Amino acid sequence: MKKVLVTGGLGFIGSHTVVELQNEGFEVVIIDDLSNSSIDVLNGIVSITNQKPIFEKLDLKDKSSVELFFRKHNDIAGVIHFAANKAVGESVNKPLLYYENNLNTLIYLLNEILGLETSSFIFSSSCTVYGQADEMPITENAPIKPAESPYGNTKQIGEEIIRDTCKVNLDLNAIALRYFNPIGAHASSKIGELPIGVPQNLVPYITQTAAGLRSYLSVFGDDYPTPDGTCIRDYIHVVDLAKAHVFALQRLMNGRQDSNFETFNIGTGVGSSVLEVIKSFERVSGKSLNYKMTARREGDIVSAYADTKKANSILGWKSQLTLDDAMLSAWNWEKHIRNL
Ligand code: WQD
Repeated sequence: MKKVLVTGGLGFIGSHTVVELQNEGFEVVIIDDLSNSSIDVLNGIVSITNQKPIFEKLDLKDKSSVELFFRKHNDIAGVIHFAANKAVGESVNKPLLYYENNLNTLIYLLNEILGLETSSFIFSSSCTVYGQADEMPITENAPIKPAESPYGNTKQIGEEIIRDTCKVNLDLNAIALRYFNPIGAHASSKIGELPIGVPQNLVPYITQTAAGLRSYLSVFGDDYPTPDGTCIRDYIHVVDLAKAHVFALQRLMNGRQDSNFETFNIGTGVGSSVLEVIKSFERVSGKSLNYKMTARREGDIVSAYADTKKANSILGWKSQLTLDDAMLSAWNWEKHIRNL
């Protein structure tokens, strides 16, 4: 069994990716500092796959701990790196926390990966690197615009660090996956999104409102230049996104890459407005959602959805699940964690 390290493997996307890696026969080692996740997620993973990943609680900002880890696990065949802070708004108020946590950790990790026999590295990037793209759908060749937040900047700089490292280390093979908007939960409702405090993202706010934790959803702006006035995003089911990581890893492990640093947009290729997401939720849940139109949110872009031709044709991956599938899975997860 090939051993794969998943950093941030108890997080939302990380845990779903661990399940898909185990389904494909990989042995998984998880590093997580539990700063934005819970050890209970490990039980959730085991209850789905009946395979217990190796787990090490470790702070990737601690360089010597990272070195020790790789002395112990020198048989790692691939690394998928999720561990990072990811709240756009928080990053504006705490830039140094984001630059230290998201970039130092990447540098320490890459230093150790260069010392491995073989190294396939998958980086968790984001469509945030495009800012408000000029053309829809967004291709991987769209210009990278000045980041609108320190969070987005750490993704842009992260890709540059990897690109420059790959240039002078031809044995390092890397892929950056630029996610659009991950939503939903595993069909088993054993793992899902666990926002701490008031959710910043749309879908957990919708399901918490429907569960009675929030009195209503604020729709941030209905005066945008879109068909119904609300912002458009590409909402991708987290299970489809998780599978994209396995496709990317296998591409590198099988030596199919065209160059030793590649980027792929991972989305559905379909744009959905906030109101369309609300309608999807009401359709699949049979519940009417309490929402109000309020002012725009600072920093929001009008529209972003992926051109997925490259991932479909070159990676051989295509999203399979619909917006309704994702909204139903998100609602089932919310009901599971609230015992509804
Ligand atoms: C989606 C739409 C809001 C909440 C962010 C990050 C991105 C990625 C995904 C990490 C927007 C509207 C939201 C609410 C609302 N994260 N909305 N009421 O901002 O597209 O992307 O999360 O990689 O990097 O930027 O996602 O879910 O916050 O917002 O009307 O209570 O929903 O205005 O149009 P976003 P989101």
